[in-house]
Amino acid sequence: MFAAIKGWGKCLPPATLTNDDLATFLETSDEWITSRTGMKERRISHVNVSELAYVACERALAAAGKKASDVELIVFGSTTFDELCPNAASNVQRLLGADKAACMDVNTACTSGMYSLTTATAMIKSGVVKSALVIGAEAISPIMDWQNRDVAVLFGDGAAALYLEASEHEEGVLAESLGCFGESRDILAVQGWGMKYANKSRLLGQSNWAFLGQEIFKKAVAGMAQGCSKTLEKLNFGAEDIDLVVPHQANLRIIDSLAKKLSLSSDKVFINIHKYGNMSAATALVAFVEAIEEGRVSANSHILLPAFGGGLTWSAHVVKFGERTTAIAESDVDLPECTKSGLALVQDLIERKKG
Ligand SMILES: CC(C)(COP(=O)(O)OP(=O)(O)OC[C@H]1O[C@@H](n2cnc3c(N)ncnc32)[C@H](O)[C@@H]1OP(=O)(O)O)[C@@H](O)C(=O)NCCC(=O)NCCS
Repeated sequence: MFAAIKGWGKCLPPATLTNDDLATFLETSDEWITSRTGMKERRISHVNVSELAYVACERALAAAGKKASDVELIVFGSTTFDELCPNAASNVQRLLGADKAACMDVNTACTSGMYSLTTATAMIKSGVVKSALVIGAEAISPIMDWQNRDVAVLFGDGAAALYLEASEHEEGVLAESLGCFGESRDILAVQGWGMKYANKSRLLGQSNWAFLGQEIFKKAVAGMAQGCSKTLEKLNFGAEDIDLVVPHQANLRIIDSLAKKLSLSSDKVFINIHKYGNMSAATALVAFVEAIEEGRVSANSHILLPAFGGGLTWSAHVVKFGERTTAIAESDVDLPECTKSGLALVQDLIERKKG
């Protein structure tokens, strides 16, 4: 049994925050951000993460030609859930009207979308369910420490979803490797973002981002390279068997180092970091969906998806795409209108934190 990818959709909030916008309130520049990260702009959400996820799911269902009542499982990968109880997947279920679906949230930080893909695929392969929506979504802007230039320039908001279905054909995830450098978990940490801060002197949600950028950089390359080698080995594949690499997009220089380490030619590597920055759990799935939409994914091709994130978790999946690479239909569901610019939304967040 396989778990074929039959539908795909993404939802990027419309408000854009450029590098020049960031330079209006941080000591930074377009030149620094572009040369050190490859990022030019990112999106800032005017709605909660569940709403971004819901729109992405409607689009994935339309692309698959399916209805909400066809969905047996929703796996929501994120680290910025609206609430911990009730979970976020149950909100997506309600918004979709997918009342036959079991609902679960998965948090492995930036790899959450990919761990969710593994979770749903495994549950389909083992016969627990026959179909699933997999979500990678993040609304990170409300928890961002906008005064800290080390991290504020790196992140953005967004969502993507895949619709999976049981299939006898060899397609979907063929193999993956998952892991975690737990001993290094403190080098990518956000203080104030979790229940251990509740009812303490520090207010829950007032975050302090403590990142060791260069250490994370090295671990990211090592984790993704190790994951890719292990997954290729499981399939007895070489780099030449991969048609397209869609990596987590945290830094263009991390992606370049990974490509060099794995001897991958740059024309095989999909990049969209310049448009969205790092959307954490949404990043790899948004990139995958965009690669499909832009015609970079051919029928029956093999795609390698390496990712890493807080924990420090890492993953690497090989997906075999099916025969159909175009959407069956498009959804007309959209986000409510956003009347503010990305900069105005961020200024509101800064004011609220001060207040
Ligand atoms: C964060 C990152 C872009 C920094 O790049 P780098 O080349 O390692 O830069 P450094 O940390 O050495 O900083 C170089 C200088 O730029 C400064 N700097 C840092 N952020 C800056 C910014 N936004 N604008 C301008 N200058 C900045 C530093 O203070 C330092 O100044 P100094 O030389 O006077 O001390 C890079 O390390 C990275 O991408 N790391 C991983 C990021 C991450 O954790 N992503 C999330 C994981 S999913």
